[in-house]
Amino acid sequence: MCGIVGYLGNKEAYPILIKGLHRLEYRGYDSAGVALINKNNDLNVYKTRGKVADLEAFAESKDTSGSIGIAHTRWATHGEPNNVNAHPHYSQSETLALIHNGIIENYSVLKKELLSKNYTFSSRTDTEVLIQLIEYIKESNHVDLVTAVQLALGQVVGAYAIAVVEKGNPDLIIAARKSSPLVVGIGDGEYFLASDASPIIEYTDKVIYLDDEEIAIIRRHEEPKITSIENVEKTPQIQQLSMNLSQLEKGGYPHFMLKEIFEQPRTIRDCMSGRVNVEGTHVVLSGILDNKEKFLKAGRIIICACGTSWHAGLIGMYMLEEYCRIPVVIEYSSEFRYRNPVIYPDDIVIAISQSGETADTLAAVELAKSRGAFIYGICNVVGSSISRATHGGSYTHAGPEIGVASTKAFTAQVSVLTLMTLAIGKVKGVISEENYLRITKELQSVPAKMEKTLLLNDQIKEFSKIFTYAKNFIYLGRGYNYPLALEGALKLKEISYIHAEGYPAAEMKHGPIALIDTEMPVVVIATKKGMYEKVVSNIQEIKARKGKVIAIVTEGDEIVKEISDYCIEVPLTEECLVPLVAAIPLQLLAYYIAVTKGRDVDQPRNLAKSVTVE
Ligand code: M6R
Repeated sequence: MCGIVGYLGNKEAYPILIKGLHRLEYRGYDSAGVALINKNNDLNVYKTRGKVADLEAFAESKDTSGSIGIAHTRWATHGEPNNVNAHPHYSQSETLALIHNGIIENYSVLKKELLSKNYTFSSRTDTEVLIQLIEYIKESNHVDLVTAVQLALGQVVGAYAIAVVEKGNPDLIIAARKSSPLVVGIGDGEYFLASDASPIIEYTDKVIYLDDEEIAIIRRHEEPKITSIENVEKTPQIQQLSMNLSQLEKGGYPHFMLKEIFEQPRTIRDCMSGRVNVEGTHVVLSGILDNKEKFLKAGRIIICACGTSWHAGLIGMYMLEEYCRIPVVIEYSSEFRYRNPVIYPDDIVIAISQSGETADTLAAVELAKSRGAFIYGICNVVGSSISRATHGGSYTHAGPEIGVASTKAFTAQVSVLTLMTLAIGKVKGVISEENYLRITKELQSVPAKMEKTLLLNDQIKEFSKIFTYAKNFIYLGRGYNYPLALEGALKLKEISYIHAEGYPAAEMKHGPIALIDTEMPVVVIATKKGMYEKVVSNIQEIKARKGKVIAIVTEGDEIVKEISDYCIEVPLTEECLVPLVAAIPLQLLAYYIAVTKGRDVDQPRNLAKSVTVE
């Protein structure tokens, strides 16, 4: 989604802004722009459709001087991606410039009003409406820019993170947020602004996360001032970032996605660190222990998430029901938030989100909170909006995930859900000691099994080339492997643009089997234990119709090897932990097919890393 960077300090702003935009590229965007105030107090705006590199080429011969500026990457919502709709947007008099993430829902009403006051618009965006409104209020009420921004935001319905600069005022950036993240970085005599911490980390680790409806007034040589939209002054909460720069770089890998796939053994170790004892006999999850009473009397768990996080949630649902004996339902956040769901005070809502900023999941959290449920968050990004909106939670500790396709965050989410299952099962006294010890011990061996599975990289790279012809793929699994089939299909479609569907293997006969022919690759997760024999029968059904079977099997399996076309062997593990290990070949398969097809793996078309609009 859109990205914001801002700088005010003693250095040249442009290189810092451009570097910041590059750091935000992973979020997904279609155009980029920058606004700078130079020594003569001119306000220069340069913007273009395309990548940040296109912006750099466009601005090469222009005046990019100045020690204050704001910059933006746009992911189109209102109006197609083109030069005019790109941000920053000037006000009518070209004395103000604004960048904006989010959606102004009542923009057409505001626009109509401004048109009647002789304001004209060059773009189709809601953002231009906001900057014109700010200028109109400033001019007609004879107020300063801060007051004009506060009054304008008071009229806005929707979501926003914004930054505004003013011609002739090289000492001021005004920023504000509502339902769209914004971070202020505090350096030595310099200030940064960004929609997440990644552009800031190399300059400072001191940050202020703005809360909803807060405005940051950033003035040269002064501490940032935080107010509400109603101009009530707030005490800034300065926090320390724990991220480091190397986590934001590719470290020799051709893509972030591949780097993140290979990071998984380490991320799972980090996720377990301090939570599982060395002997592998005990799980301590403070989020559960601190809220023990809530989990003891929980009548039901509702899991809310989107995309990959939803798939992890489905695995969590299977585990929590099996070992904690609590009824669990799983919801797409976008459906849950709008369908007036029945929520009881003894419900626990688990919100799962890598970014912690997904608009629908955040709204689902707020809805469930307003109905009295206890909300538990599983987030990756520390300090994110969802992590702050929940009553308790556990971070996944996967480190920054830059590739748009979620990989290490998925396995870290499943690991946290496993730890939660063990901790809740123990607190409730419903998990048998045997299951508790066996699963805890086996979870500890998962990173080593992932390392072994990663050795399949070259094999998968080689045979993935065979499938670049395919227009469709089917992914099948049963039990814990069914959510993994959904996840495998999602990975393939989002980065290779090949149509792929995941199904519970037994559902084949109820429709999808009609699609099977010699052209159709079917990925079947057929690991040992669980419903292995039944999955073998499903493979026979596919082969009888001449489908091409790519099977993920347990090491040493001879039966499936015999009947499938391609076989990938993964180490044996506990049934509920198979998705952690078997996710790797599915991620690699999608990755190498996409690479062979020449796709933009880290920033696939139309996609955004954190979906901050609904
Ligand atoms: O940040 P979140 O986990 O809330 O994001 C949810 C989905 O947008 C995300 O998982 C998406 O489906 C990924 N592109 C999948 O790879």
